Amino acid sequence: MKREGFASRLGMIAAAAGSAIGLGNIWRFPYITGKGGGAAFIVIYLIFIVFIGMSCLLTEFVIGRRGQSDAIGSFLKLSRNKYWSVGGWLCVITVSLIFSFYIVVFGWTINYLVKSIFNIFADKTPQEIGILFSTTTSSVFSPIVYAYIGLGITAFVVVDGIEHGIEKCSKILMPLLFALMVILLLRSLTLPGAGKGIAFLLKPDFSKVTTEVILIALGQAFFTLSLGAAVMITYGSYINKKERMGSAVVQICFINCSISLLAGFVIFPAAFTFGINPGEGPGLAFVTLPNIFQQMTGGYYFAIIFFLLLTVASLTSTISMLEAIVACIREQIMLTRKQAIAIGITIVAILCIPCSLSFGPMNNTKIFGHTFFDICNLITSNYGMPIGSLIFVFFVGWFFGKDNVKDELSNSGKLPVRYFPYYLFTIRFIVPIAILIIFLTKLGVF
Ligand code: PHE
Repeated sequence: MKREGFASRLGMIAAAAGSAIGLGNIWRFPYITGKGGGAAFIVIYLIFIVFIGMSCLLTEFVIGRRGQSDAIGSFLKLSRNKYWSVGGWLCVITVSLIFSFYIVVFGWTINYLVKSIFNIFADKTPQEIGILFSTTTSSVFSPIVYAYIGLGITAFVVVDGIEHGIEKCSKILMPLLFALMVILLLRSLTLPGAGKGIAFLLKPDFSKVTTEVILIALGQAFFTLSLGAAVMITYGSYINKKERMGSAVVQICFINCSISLLAGFVIFPAAFTFGINPGEGPGLAFVTLPNIFQQMTGGYYFAIIFFLLLTVASLTSTISMLEAIVACIREQIMLTRKQAIAIGITIVAILCIPCSLSFGPMNNTKIFGHTFFDICNLITSNYGMPIGSLIFVFFVGWFFGKDNVKDELSNSGKLPVRYFPYYLFTIRFIVPIAILIIFLTKLGVF
């Protein structure tokens, strides 16, 4: 059977950038930037993207394209040793846990899109908007129903395969996402408080930078590029053998970071204009913004555009998560795409229930002091993604053989890979050391 793959470079970039761009850019990035001192945080985050994220992404593409299989299969094939496949298993578990809490937030997003269409925020006081968010998330059934709607839409795209499902859909959704972003940006930058918001994003205040902020920036770099989560290995396996992977990685990272920054330029001018604290936290997108839209001329339309943007961004990410899981089930257990999707979404449909109930009846059910939702979030960003990435770079950097790596990156010698020594040095030393420092810091050694 011929392996499926991306038909065009544009489609491949759109799909991978679509995976990268998601709630992480539009929901998480602005609020952690708000807390981490604005520009100072952004500088650190960008350094991590350039020096760590890009090399990790390229490493996953190398494993996937060389292995020509799903995350577990590629690892097994390349290492010819079942112990290494632990790396593959770990990242598949990681992506399943991420998917389980991500789909809950995706559900809230769809719910808020519906609310904005029905103009629910109109004439509500800031307090009422806050209460609306907590009642929305703490109900028993409706958030699960919305999460299932999100899961259904995701499955609907993935069922059509790589070229006709994922690639085609990404080629439509990514330009749409960009257009929606530009509309919001034009509105935000013409608000009276725009200057202050822009200054916050551009003037670094290094006094807010603590060890914790640095760790958050690193975690964000992994999360935003969908690293250590099977996704980029799987997408890598669909990349054409003639494609230049090095430049694709640069483009994907550039698009991803631009969208995060643009999200900042949309949100902070609005927050400063309406006197809202940018360090608001996770409620920024669901509480602060509806408040702002409510006070703004044309806010009804801008609310719809914003939640549509968030929906589109989340969808291209959930598509990549489902595909990573489906590819493993298909190729490891030899099932059809439809059967694999049925199994994949059933697992996520079950796991997302306790994640959603963490905001309601299971609020007090704690595992090591955290709710189920927080556990999924913390385990994956603090351990799953960094450990997965560590295993990948370690394998490619030290065990796979320098010549094999160079051969893959240069398309068997057809491309010059001047960046190779730098890349090898990064994955051999910089990335492992950086990840070890994080762990030691977390364990309280420093
Ligand atoms: N990168 C996505 C975002 O920023 C999240 C994601 C993580 C997607 C892991 C796939 C795998 O929202």
